[in-house]
Amino acid sequence: MLNKVAFLLVLVPFIIVVMASDPDPINDFCIANSEDTSFSCKNSSTATVEDFTFSGIKYPGNFKKTGFSSVAVNSNIFPGLNTLGVSFVRADFDVGGVNVPHLHPRATEVAFVLEGKIYSGFVDTKNKVFAKVLEKGEVMVFPRGLVHFQMNVGDGHATILGSFDSQNPGLVRIPNAVFGSEINEELLEKAFGLSSKELSRLKKRFSPS
Ligand SMILES: *[C@@H]1O[C@H](CO)[C@@H](O)[C@H](O)[C@H]1NC(C)=O
Repeated sequence: MLNKVAFLLVLVPFIIVVMASDPDPINDFCIANSEDTSFSCKNSSTATVEDFTFSGIKYPGNFKKTGFSSVAVNSNIFPGLNTLGVSFVRADFDVGGVNVPHLHPRATEVAFVLEGKIYSGFVDTKNKVFAKVLEKGEVMVFPRGLVHFQMNVGDGHATILGSFDSQNPGLVRIPNAVFGSEINEELLEKAFGLSSKELSRLKKRFSPS
């Protein structure tokens, strides 16, 4: 009996690791019913090829205003991805455009430079930075949950495609999560050594418009 308990205790961490990715599908597909948010499957006999294709990233988003745009193609906007454990993103950069430090809590990302020259990197939990300039055709991996960033350092428009091992990787932009949320102002001033004037400038910049 005691042996069985000890065996289970040893096993528990591994079971948790296995549960950390999207669950395996139990059907060929499960196109999410767009009418509900519980991701029930659309009747599979009514599926068509249109359920498995997506045209929303044929063209870049509007990157001219801020220098950067990204269109996340996850199961929320492409219901055919539901239960399949993958999704992706298209990001476009104007010259000098920046994808601010951010993280995806539920997925590792592999980013492919389709066009341009991108300074690209991530920070590990020891605050070590791994970064370099990627040329067109090169790929970088951003491990799950780690903060990463990109900047167009070429002299033309740049585009990347990122793919994720989750149908819904989630996105936390660090500046917005910190300064664009409703975290207590006194706390933020103390945490970052900011005057209230400096803080209100940052809050204005990163609050949802
Ligand atoms: C799915 O659609 C088919 C064809 O319209 C129908 O015969 C079947 O009863 C439907 N199944 C369910 C579970 O609604």
